[in-house]
Amino acid sequence: MPVYVVVGAQWGDEGKGKVCDFLAGAMDLVVRYQGGANAGHTVVFDDRKIVLHQIPSGILSPRARSVIGNGCVVDPVILASEIRELAAAGVHVGPENLIVSQHAHLVTPLHRFLDEKQNGAIGTTGRGIGPCYTDKAQRSGIRLESLMDGSWRGRMREHGSRHEDFYRVVYGVGYIDVEESIRALEPAVALLQPLIGDTAQVVCDAVSTGGSILFEGAQGTFLDLDHGTYPYVTSSTTTVGGAISGGGVYVHFDRRIAVMKAYATRVGEGPFPTELTDETGRRLREVGREYGATTGRARRCGWLDLSMGRRACMINGFDYVVLTKLDCLSGLPVLRAAVGRASDGTPDYVDMEGWDSSIAGVTSFHELPVEARRYVAFIEEYLCVPVGMISTGPSRSDIIIRKEP
Ligand code: IMP
Repeated sequence: MPVYVVVGAQWGDEGKGKVCDFLAGAMDLVVRYQGGANAGHTVVFDDRKIVLHQIPSGILSPRARSVIGNGCVVDPVILASEIRELAAAGVHVGPENLIVSQHAHLVTPLHRFLDEKQNGAIGTTGRGIGPCYTDKAQRSGIRLESLMDGSWRGRMREHGSRHEDFYRVVYGVGYIDVEESIRALEPAVALLQPLIGDTAQVVCDAVSTGGSILFEGAQGTFLDLDHGTYPYVTSSTTTVGGAISGGGVYVHFDRRIAVMKAYATRVGEGPFPTELTDETGRRLREVGREYGATTGRARRCGWLDLSMGRRACMINGFDYVVLTKLDCLSGLPVLRAAVGRASDGTPDYVDMEGWDSSIAGVTSFHELPVEARRYVAFIEEYLCVPVGMISTGPSRSDIIIRKEP
């Protein structure tokens, strides 16, 4: 049975939610291995749009069990609201279909507070992700296992006073009431407790019984803490390597799937060589509805950067590409793709002819205009990786399958 890993090839928001939702129907296990509520995976389900932040897209599949792995950080309040939203859409979430690692770390209100105060220049999502991973690396974080025996309250108090001391010295002001934070977390913690378990064992059991497993990456290759455009990155390993350490056990991936948008977007600060600040950039934003699923921020838009795409293939060992939002390029007379850099660092572009007609909802490659087919062929030739699927709209059914993964 197959084991797949799905990773964004750009700066996140490539459409991984739809791809994972599409693949999850045939999976026994769907595993998130890094990040937390900074992600925003939008899936369209029975005409309802659902944005999942921490829960894997597999939750919508009646067959799959979903796992939030040890490499993740979990905000119980946001998790509780996701569970409620799913219940309103008729999707029950309980220990039979969601298991959260006892080794994942707790995101506290203090982490969110510190993120807002300290990380403005990076343009983070404000979800406390960086401060929570900082505490983890400093060996002062709160693992979810402490929710099981109640020791999390004592740890919250220690954590509060440590940060409080630091904050008073550095900024001369105190922080919020820790007792109040504990009270605010209690109902969500009670909901989370029955979901906590040994997810490494769960993944190991699925591997050893030949189960089908999908590892679902969040953010994208160039937001990876090591491989991304540092310091404008997130605080976890978003690339394929992270799936092994953050998922729990060693696995062999039968497919390493890149999700790549047909153009580029980035939210937050940091370098973006192919960014378009002109009318074309604005048009891409409106046609592609490029507004953050987590924060609502307008995304920066630009041309596809294939030189970065090639690097993403090298780092992740991609052997299959899903190209998303090709429909959003319809109507642009000329399309550009960066294939290198000039000596001053500006992108070298290849120009290609665009197409006029709408391709929204097209499901067969041969129905695409010849210019769209050429665009796809150019991408696969440049990356030396096949484009196996092409997404032509937000629904599950708006997809061209050229080659099963
Ligand atoms: P953090 O992950 O909230 O610490 O934010 C670090 C950087 O990653 C910021 O530029 C965010 O905008 C970006 N980022 C985090 N999560 C996502 C995502 O799911 N999609 C796109 N960008 C993200």
